[in-house]
Amino acid sequence: MLSYLKHPFFWGPTACSVALLVLLGATCWEYQEATADHQQTVTAFASSTDTYRSFTYEIRIREARLAEEKEAVIRNLTSEQERNNAIQNQIDGLKGSVAVIQKVNATDKELLQKYSKVYFLNENYAPPQLTVISPEFVWGIDKALETHAQVTPFLHALLGAARSQNIDLAVLSAYRSFNTQASLKSAYTVRYGAGANAFSADQGYSEHQLGTTVDFTTRAGGSVLAGFDETAAFTWLREHAHLYGFVLSYPEGNNYYVYEPWHWRFVGVELASKLHAESRDFYDMDQRVLDTYRISLFD
Ligand code: DAL
Ligand code: ZN
Repeated sequence: MLSYLKHPFFWGPTACSVALLVLLGATCWEYQEATADHQQTVTAFASSTDTYRSFTYEIRIREARLAEEKEAVIRNLTSEQERNNAIQNQIDGLKGSVAVIQKVNATDKELLQKYSKVYFLNENYAPPQLTVISPEFVWGIDKALETHAQVTPFLHALLGAARSQNIDLAVLSAYRSFNTQASLKSAYTVRYGAGANAFSADQGYSEHQLGTTVDFTTRAGGSVLAGFDETAAFTWLREHAHLYGFVLSYPEGNNYYVYEPWHWRFVGVELASKLHAESRDFYDMDQRVLDTYRISLFD
């Protein structure tokens, strides 16, 4: 009954089927192994990706924090620099104020005072330093005229400019000490009596004692001052003297002396230019206003 077992047609296909089943089983097992491996790989990859993402996220957070810290440091630095600049400006301002005060204190306060019959100049007053006016600009060969050392360069510049424009202009009188003025006034009083008060200051009241004032003349006119206002020199002085810091002390109609077109006083370029521009006279200005020009007197 089991004779078919011995038949080769039975064993042939059966062996083949078994072999096929074994092969199929092996293949399925391998496939399962491969699938499991793949799944592991996918899981590992997913985990790596998560790690990478969280790492990147942390880096970004750190970057943002660093950027914030950097901005805070820059802000602090900037405000520190601004504070330092403000302090430096204050220091500079104080230094400037000290320099201004030193400059004002160093400038003789008498030089912008009104002396003509207004203030009395101490009989011992003399400019700290006098320098000789270049003889080429002085009228009279033997005269050694002097002015305040800081005024002389301005006077020389004025006279040089006039000369370069062919203006006949020379200095007849300049610094006069208290005693010189006293002698002069005495001589005029002997000759003109009380009338001398109209054109000659008493000692202590003359601007000439300051060393900043000169009487101009022309070489043609010499020591005769009458008519000076009709000369080209006077017209030139009217137009240019302020550029060198000089003003006319006693214009027509002034309250102190007769009209003296020859008598010019140095008050500094700034003040002289202001007076010229506004057609005003030195003696009409308030003394407190005049005092503010001391700082720029010799600029
Ligand atoms: N001639 C002027 C006023 C003076 O003597 O100072
Ligand atoms: Zn004079």
